[in-house]
Amino acid sequence: ETWTSGVLVYKTQASPGTTFHRRAMSETRGTVWLSVVLLLVLVDHKRWQVTARAPLTAVDTWGGNKSAIDIAVRPAAIEEVSAMLARNNIKHEVMLDDVQRAINEENPTSDDDTNDRKGHRLTWQAYHKTAVIYGYLEHLTTTYPNLCSVKTIGMSVQNRPIKLLKISNGKPGNKAVWVDGGIHAREWITPATVTYIINHIVSNFENEPKYIQDTDWYITPVANPDGYEFTHSTDRLWRKNRARSGGQCAGTDLNRNFGYKWGGKGSSKNPCTQIYAGTGPFSEPETAAIQRFIQGTKVPWKAYVSFHSYGQYILYPWGYENAVPTDHRDLEAVGRRAAAAITAAGGPRYTVGPAGSTLYPAAGGSDDWAKGVAGFKYSYTIELRDTGRFGFVLPASYIQPTAEEALAALRVIVEAAQKA
Ligand code: ARG
Ligand code: ZN
Repeated sequence: ETWTSGVLVYKTQASPGTTFHRRAMSETRGTVWLSVVLLLVLVDHKRWQVTARAPLTAVDTWGGNKSAIDIAVRPAAIEEVSAMLARNNIKHEVMLDDVQRAINEENPTSDDDTNDRKGHRLTWQAYHKTAVIYGYLEHLTTTYPNLCSVKTIGMSVQNRPIKLLKISNGKPGNKAVWVDGGIHAREWITPATVTYIINHIVSNFENEPKYIQDTDWYITPVANPDGYEFTHSTDRLWRKNRARSGGQCAGTDLNRNFGYKWGGKGSSKNPCTQIYAGTGPFSEPETAAIQRFIQGTKVPWKAYVSFHSYGQYILYPWGYENAVPTDHRDLEAVGRRAAAAITAAGGPRYTVGPAGSTLYPAAGGSDDWAKGVAGFKYSYTIELRDTGRFGFVLPASYIQPTAEEALAALRVIVEAAQKA
């Protein structure tokens, strides 16, 4: 897959009150109508079928919420999409007029150019492949043997290890916190952010407050190693894992594959979509590994934090529906304090709310399973930067500021978890 020169990312917005708007509302019963309508149009109109195999390849939904979506449009479909947007008076703007150029410029240094004078090759000035990230985790176990240990919790579809770092001072009675990144392959800022957080906590451990020290941290920076490698080698914008359960089309959306309300709204049975939920709950080895480890490790789980990108949101359950759990006020309050900590640290605005009503309903997410099944009180999906200027192709120079604000938010959540 190449996103050759000329690919656009549009931010679209219907002007409220237009005929299009009302018709769309009635057609889709009022939820995420713009996104649904655009997809329906694109799926149903054969004219948009640029590659013979799957009509959906003409466009790719990058992000969205109740009022606007970002769509990446392949060169062959740009003219038609532009005409359709104009015809229907859909307000839109070009966010990124050359995706391939953004890809070429996002990551300045390749892994082959970085040395390992420090005992590892990881930096936070560039995005790195799984091997470099795993090398760093192993390095931590030899540098901080009393604090850090690594465990392989399972193997991916293509037999890559899914590695988990545990950071613990070994005190009995510590509360347990789970953090993951890289569930979605193309969200490169998330493994980078998670490893930045690891590095900060570990190298600064003696100076950290008690709520950081007396937490047992279970951290998986690359939850979808096959997908992540594929985004480095072949298709920068690949989202799913690399399962071949779906005939022609590869990949299950791991964030639709968790076993709570599996198969509901915002997920698909069509393997060719970006939101394919898999053949059943935890059909994928990557999600099954997380489930097995969390449910098989009898520790007091308190906070579950899954990093995604992009959009700058702090989301809590439920995601499968426009509904909230009974203790939603606690989740909202902590989420708001986390967002406030980000702005206090000089970061940008993050929007806080329940995933289903703030973004769109999507069933089978890890956050819902953590809250609904695994017993985590504080379960969050944090959508990191940006809000669409670069989208998934966030330049590496943004790693540091983004990771720093993520850490500020995580501190608030973990401090609350200590009291839960
Ligand atoms: N962007 C994320 C996704 O589509 C949001 C997930 C929010 N959580 C949820 N359970 N829907 O996977
Ligand atoms: Zn994601």
